[in-house]
Amino acid sequence: MKIIVLGSAAGGGFPQWNCNCRNCKGVRDGSVNARSRTQSSIAVSSNGTDWLLVNASPDILTQIKSTPALQPARAARDSGIAAVMLMDAQIDHVTGLLMLREGKPIPLYCTAAVWDDLTTGLPLVHVLSHFCGVKWNMLASHHPAAPIEIPGIDNLSFTTLTLTSKAPPYSPHREMQQDGDNLGLLIEDKITKKKVLYAPGLGEIEPQVLEAMLEADCILVDGTFWTNDEMVQHGFSKKLATDIGHLPQSGENGMISVLDSFSDTRKILIHINNTNPILDEDSAERATLTQHGIEVAFDGMEINL
Ligand code: MLT
Ligand code: MN
Ligand code: ZN
Repeated sequence: MKIIVLGSAAGGGFPQWNCNCRNCKGVRDGSVNARSRTQSSIAVSSNGTDWLLVNASPDILTQIKSTPALQPARAARDSGIAAVMLMDAQIDHVTGLLMLREGKPIPLYCTAAVWDDLTTGLPLVHVLSHFCGVKWNMLASHHPAAPIEIPGIDNLSFTTLTLTSKAPPYSPHREMQQDGDNLGLLIEDKITKKKVLYAPGLGEIEPQVLEAMLEADCILVDGTFWTNDEMVQHGFSKKLATDIGHLPQSGENGMISVLDSFSDTRKILIHINNTNPILDEDSAERATLTQHGIEVAFDGMEINL
């Protein structure tokens, strides 16, 4: 299978339009050694022609422009995107759907909880019904979920994992977590038997997460924040990383210590917030990741398994 990282930043992107933090300022004026990044999304395919878009970023048009595999090639109106799957109902993962409105009805895979958000708090589905419309395929909200196949996507199977993270602020169940608010995804290539775990929003390392990490040949996981109080330290928010459903990398039970248990697995952080010091390729924090064998996803990164 082939994965293309379309967008490796968290909500807001990097640099964020209104942010003057060291990283954002530094990537604009060249004083920090960092790459700019668009908001969170990946595409996966086994034949290189038909792709599943996992999360639809507000930056999707820019992402398609820089990704020939997703561009029209077979008909007057065409796309390499055969279907869309959503891991949650956050703005950075769903609003790109609106940009696909000129196409055919979108085969959309999401849980009942996410569908609920997209028909109430952020009613994208109603808006799209006046354009291309979507064809909803419900993903399981329980564990363990059976692997599914997606018509038009050859040779791959998809197993969703329910995660503890957070529904978006506009969700009717923001303060009352429902199973299915947040998913991780284990993708298996049925020919090579290789597996990737994708979990861009991960707040707690529950048993099903550890099981999936153990199975995976490559882990693409939440890299939002380095420290739990990163946004508080910057004066940008009163909320901790864990309050908004993201496990920080550093610290005793942080993501690095979790990933350290998987020594033979490729480990890549994704969904990086613009405040995270790992974006500076010359930083001590980035060197720490390298020592632990952990990579940092960038836009256009390709993973072949
Ligand atoms: C999150 O994952 O918490 C989001 O990136 C927040 C947002 O998009 O505003
Ligand atoms: Mn996000
Ligand atoms: Zn910033």
